[in-house]
Amino acid sequence: MSHSGKTFVVEHLDPELEAWSSLEYLTIANESQASGARFLLSSVPTSLQLPANLQHVEGLNVETRGIEEIYADKKDKVCLLDPAASKDLSPEDGDTFEVFLFGGILGDDPPRDRTSELRKKGYQGRRLGPVQMTTDTAVRVTRIVVQDRVPVEKISFIDNPELKINKNESTQMPFRYVKGDDGRPIMPEGMVDLIIRDSEKSLDDLL
Ligand SMILES: C[S@@+](CC[C@H](N)C(=O)[O-])C[C@H]1O[C@@H](n2cnc3c(N)ncnc32)[C@H](O)[C@@H]1O
Repeated sequence: MSHSGKTFVVEHLDPELEAWSSLEYLTIANESQASGARFLLSSVPTSLQLPANLQHVEGLNVETRGIEEIYADKKDKVCLLDPAASKDLSPEDGDTFEVFLFGGILGDDPPRDRTSELRKKGYQGRRLGPVQMTTDTAVRVTRIVVQDRVPVEKISFIDNPELKINKNESTQMPFRYVKGDDGRPIMPEGMVDLIIRDSEKSLDDLL
């Protein structure tokens, strides 16, 4: 059985689609395309105007329908990646499931468990270890586990990395990231600049 060709579905759960999410979704689209996987961004309201960087992206399939409607006849083939699940995702889950479902939610600290909105729908759930990841990281880790057949505990992670804003300030990202070949946390292109810009803005607001 081929282990590539999985479908990754991010159900967009926020009313807006912020710059941060758009960078995450663009990265998921590019990485899915490169690995032979399919990426669906589901539950996108018709009223929502996609940001410019998400228009005409190869590998990004935008759906106004939600997961329940799209996979009504395949519920047992859908696995929800759920930080509260009792079982961790394993390479063998790649044999059982065809579709991997994620919450399109910005991470929050402390986590507010908005993944519960998807849990209510009754899909089988799997955890990616005990630490909260960004959505693009959760998709990346799932792909490594089910397509590359690497167990979660064999993946190198970086937790809560510190990003330098300027020579005096830094900000800590309260998430787990995959460690890249350069030893740094893998983040979407443009994300570090966006975080720095946002942090400078909030520092200015404090003055
Ligand atoms: C940024 S997280 C959101 C976590 C969150 N604060 C919440 O409200 O549930 C976005 C998505 O990534 C996936 N995810 C993140 N960390 C995970 C983990 N440790 N195990 C399983 N899934 C995870 C889940 O699908 C989650 O809905």
